[in-house]
Parts: sequence; structure tokens; C-alpha cells
Amino acid sequence: MISLTVNGQRHSLDIDDDTPLLWVIRDELKLKGSKFGCGAGLCGACTMHLDGAPIRSCITPVSLAADKQVTTIEGVTPSQGLSPVQQAWADLNVPQCGYCQSGQIMSATALLANNPSPTDEDIDQAMSGNLCRCGTYPRIRTAIHQAAQHPLYQERRQPEKHHD
Ligand code: FES
Ligand code: FES
Repeated sequence: MISLTVNGQRHSLDIDDDTPLLWVIRDELKLKGSKFGCGAGLCGACTMHLDGAPIRSCITPVSLAADKQVTTIEGVTPSQGLSPVQQAWADLNVPQCGYCQSGQIMSATALLANNPSPTDEDIDQAMSGNLCRCGTYPRIRTAIHQAAQHPLYQERRQPEKHHD
């Protein structure tokens, strides 16, 4: 039995240790927001958070997630409305086909949690593992800058240093 906490809910699952976390989330827990793209850790469509850090769940054995906090796209979506990142995505019409976008949003959310005022370079680096066949990269970058203006992130910024 493996004990897994997903989006704050604890589950006990009778499952092989090396089953990919993505399979467990989609097929056992029926949370379908995280997508299967390459299955080889190369595209980012399956991105979710493990203790707040973005991971490729298609190549993460479920045993590695035991006793840790797993967060999926469903877990970053408020019960009412949208998260700041999701709102920016909606405002700027970021998705095209949409398939990669839950993974993009999970990577962007993790980036802003650690760095509430990222530069273009920070964004490009943090998002480099999330591929988009539709080429939505420029809108993703703009949307991350917009989301960073949300009070949630503004409050976390370091105060500006003043020089006398
Ligand atoms: S499906 Fe996991 S990285 Fe592509
Ligand atoms: S929106 Fe189509 S793959 Fe990214």
C-alpha cells in the first residue's frame, strides 16, 4: 500500500511502487487535467508539483511521492474563479490547442511561488522543459509577467533597496 496526499487529500493505494505517478493520478484518482505527452520526461505536459517543486510525473515512480504533497492542476484551481496565473492565461488567450497548457500553468505557478518578479531570462529558464507545439511561448511569457503583477505576488517581492 502506498499513501499519497494529492491536493490535500490522503489516499491509500494498492499499487506497484514503480507505477508512474501520472498513471495513478489519471487512472486511479481520475484527475485528468495532467496530460500524457511523451511519457519520457521531455515535453512537460504531465507537470505537477511535489512538495511545491515542478516534476515530470510520467517518469516519477509513485513511490517517490509517498508521504509528500502532490499538487495537480486541479489543486491550484480555486473553488471559485481562477488563480492569478490562470486568470492571466485567460486574459491573454494563451492556449491554442490547449494540450500542453496545464503543464505550462504548473511550471509558471511554481516559478512565481519562488520568484515573484521573474525576468524574461528567468521565465525562459523555468519554462524551458515545457514544450508547446502550437508555439504559444510569447503569450506564455507575457502572461507570467501579468500574473506577477497580482497582489499575491507583489506582496512577496523584496522591498526595493534605497541608497542614500
Ligand atoms: S508526458 Fe511527461 S514529460 Fe512528456
Ligand atoms: S497550446 Fe497546443 S501544444 Fe501548446
